[in-house]
Amino acid sequence: MIILNRCSPIKQILRRCHRQAVESGSIKANLTAYFGKWPENEKQEFRQHMRIIPDFISESEEQQLHEEIEPYMSRLRYEFDHWDDAIHGFRETERKKWFPHNREVLERVRQVAFDGAIMPYVHILDLAPDGVIKPHVDSTRYCGTTISGISLLSDSVMRLVRTDAQRYQQHSADAATEPESKGSEPDAAYRHQPVASLENNFYADLLLPRRSLYIMSHTARYNFTHEILAKEQSEFQGTPVPKTRRISIICRNEP
Ligand code: OGA
Ligand code: MN
Repeated sequence: MIILNRCSPIKQILRRCHRQAVESGSIKANLTAYFGKWPENEKQEFRQHMRIIPDFISESEEQQLHEEIEPYMSRLRYEFDHWDDAIHGFRETERKKWFPHNREVLERVRQVAFDGAIMPYVHILDLAPDGVIKPHVDSTRYCGTTISGISLLSDSVMRLVRTDAQRYQQHSADAATEPESKGSEPDAAYRHQPVASLENNFYADLLLPRRSLYIMSHTARYNFTHEILAKEQSEFQGTPVPKTRRISIICRNEP
C-alpha cells in the first residue's frame, strides 16, 4: 500500500514557521530567508516594507477570483516570444469592474496595504508553469510607493536583490537618468531591468504561499529588484517549492 504524504514540503515549512512564531510569541510566520551581509538598518527597514500575509484569502475567495478572471484570461495566449522582456511565459490584463464579492477582497487589500486609494485598474498576471518574472523594478513613472499581490493557484518564490539606491527614489529629479532598459518598448516602460548582482550583495528570498498577500513598499519597492524564480530554481531554505500556473492580482497606487 502506498502511504501518501498528506503534507506538502511547503506546508511543513509553514507549519514549522508557525510553531516557531508561536513559540517566540510573534504572530508572523518566517517566510523570508536573508542572504549576504545585510546592514542592520537596511534589514529593519526591509522587514517593515516587505510583508507577507499568509492565508489572506480563503479557498472559496480564491476560487471566486479565479472564476471571474478565467473566462477572459483563457482566451489570451501565453507570450514566450520576447526573451529580453522582464516577463516570459505570461498573459495579462487589467480589470476595473469586479463582482461585488471580489470587490470586497480588493477593498480589504486596500485597507491593509495602502494608506489611501489604489489605481482603479487592477493588474492580473497569469504566469505559465514554465513562465518566469526576471529581476526588475516597476517604473516610478507608472507606479507609486506600494505594490501588493495576491497569489492564486500556486506557491512561488520571490527574490529581492539590492540595487543602486540613488536611481529609484520616487520623484527622481530627472527621469531621463533612469537606467536603460532592455526589451520591447511597452514592457521596458513599465519594468526596468537594472543589473543587480548576487555577488558582493545582499538579497532575500520570500516564500509566497498560494492565497497569501505580499505588500512591497518604499525601500523594498525602489531599492531592490524583484523576480519570481523559474520552476527549476524554485526552492526555499533547501526545499523545492513546486511552481505551477500562478495568477497574481496586483494592486498599485498612483505615482
Ligand atoms: C510585475 C510583477 C509580481 C507578481 O508584474 O511587474 O512584478 O506577483 N509581478 O506577479
Ligand atoms: Mn514588478
